[in-house]
Amino acid sequence: MQHIQSYISEHKDRFINELIELLKTPSISADPAYKNDVLKTADAVKLALEKAGCGTVEICETPGYPIVYGEKIISEDLPTILVYGHYDVQPADPIELWDSPPFEPIIKKTDIHPEGAIFARGACDDKGQMYMHVKALELMTQTNQLPCNVKFMIEGEEEVGSESLSWYVKRNQGKLANDIVLISDTGMISNSQPSITTGLRGLSYVEVEITGPNRDLHSGLYGGAVANPINILTKMIASLHDENNHIVIPGFYNNVEELSLEERAEMAKAPFLLEGYQDALDIDEVFGEKGYTTNERNSIRPTLDVNGIWGGYIGEGAKTVIASKAYAKISMRLVPNQDWHEITELFTEHFKSIAPKSVKVKVTPHHGGQGYVTPIDNIGYKAANKAYTESFGVQAIPQRSGGSIPIVSLFEEELNSKTILMGFGLDSDAIHSPNEHFGIFNYLKGIETIPLFYKYYTELSKRNL
Ligand code: BES
Ligand code: MN
Ligand code: MN
Repeated sequence: MQHIQSYISEHKDRFINELIELLKTPSISADPAYKNDVLKTADAVKLALEKAGCGTVEICETPGYPIVYGEKIISEDLPTILVYGHYDVQPADPIELWDSPPFEPIIKKTDIHPEGAIFARGACDDKGQMYMHVKALELMTQTNQLPCNVKFMIEGEEEVGSESLSWYVKRNQGKLANDIVLISDTGMISNSQPSITTGLRGLSYVEVEITGPNRDLHSGLYGGAVANPINILTKMIASLHDENNHIVIPGFYNNVEELSLEERAEMAKAPFLLEGYQDALDIDEVFGEKGYTTNERNSIRPTLDVNGIWGGYIGEGAKTVIASKAYAKISMRLVPNQDWHEITELFTEHFKSIAPKSVKVKVTPHHGGQGYVTPIDNIGYKAANKAYTESFGVQAIPQRSGGSIPIVSLFEEELNSKTILMGFGLDSDAIHSPNEHFGIFNYLKGIETIPLFYKYYTELSKRNL
C-alpha cells in the first residue's frame, strides 16, 4: 500500500525522535530507585496514545506499577485487536561495558544495521517495538485506514514478572475482550528473512541460600573441619546436569512434549549457520543437551541455568575466610505442558535432598510462568504472514523462541485469546545486555507491517463470518 510507505517516509524523522525521547527515561522496574522514572514513562505512553488517535486513554492503578490502557472502538461489528507491550526496561548494568550511556540514545551504523540502529536500554526490548504500534495507529488514523477496533494495554512490570498485570487482567475480562492479542516483544531471523514466533518458553526462577557455620570463619583455623557453603553450593549446582547435559531433577522431563521427527525436520529448515553463531559469540564450540541441535536446545527443550552466584570475599586482594552463606539465582526455562509451580516444587525438593547435613538450604521462588505455542492454522497467523510477505517480499517462517513472556498464557486462560507474536528485533540486538540497540530499518518495517496485519486480519475475519 503506497500510502503507508509515503506516510512513513514523510514522518520518519519524527518517529525516530519521539522514540529517542522515550528512551531517555530510565524506566527500570527492578530497582525502586527508578520509581519516578517508571511512572513518568507511563504518563509519556498515555500522552503518545492520545496523540496517536486513541479515543480514551487511562492510567490504571494496580498494587504495583500502572497499566496504560487505551482504545479506539469504531464498530461493534468489527474485530478487536488487543495490543500488548511493556514500557519498563531491564537494569543497564554492567554500565562500564556500554560504549555510550544507556539512557542517552544515539544512532550508529553496524554491519547488520547499515541504515543505523538506536543504541539505548529498551531500544528493542520493548520501548522501540511497543512504540511501533503507537506509530502504526497514528498512521492508520491519520490516513483513514483503521479497519477495526483496537485496545492497547502497556504494562510496567514485564521485566519483573508481570504480577500487577495478572491482577489487572483477572479483574477486567470484559473491558479487555478481544479477538486476537498482538505483541511485538520477540525477534525475527534476519532483516531479509522475517519469522513469526510460534512458541515461548515458560520459566521458573528461584534463589537458593546455603548456610554453613553461623558466622564467617578464619579459613586456616576452621578450613577443612566445617562445610564451606560456597564449595557445597557449587558442587550441588554442578550435580544438577549429567554428562549428557540432561537435567537430573526427578520428574523434570515428565510432561515435556517430544516433537515428531517431521516437526524437527521442519524446524531444521530455518536458515542457521553454526559457524556464524559461534563467531558472533567468540566461542570455539557450542554446548548443550546431547541429541539436540542448537536451535532445538534454545527453543523446544527445557534448561536450567545459574544467573548469578555470590558469597565470601570478592573485594581487592585476598582475605582468608570461610563465609557463613552462599547464594545463587537459578532460572529454569520450560516448554509447553511443564507446569512452572510443579517444576519449582520438584527443584526445591531435589535441591534440599542433595544437600549434606553440614549445611542448611533455603529455596525462595521468585516468579515464573507457563510456556505458550500458537497454532499456525488460524486467521491471526495467516494475516501476519500476508503482512510480512507484502512488506518484506518473502514469506515469514514460523519459529519457536527460547524467551518467555509469561503473561501470554494468561491471555489464553483469562481472555480466551490467541496471541500473535510479530517481533522485529534480532538476536544480535543485545537485549538485556550492554549496547542494546534496535535497527532503524526494523523500527520502520514494523510500522509498515503492523497496519497490513490489521487490514488482512479484518478481511479474513469478515470472510469467516
Ligand atoms: N521480550 C522479552 C522476551 C523475549 C525476547 C522473548 C526475545 C522472545 C524473544 C521479555 O521482555 C523478557 O525479557 N522476558 C523475560 C521473562 C520475565 C519473566 C522476566 C525473559 O525471557 O527472561
Ligand atoms: Mn520484552
Ligand atoms: Mn526483556
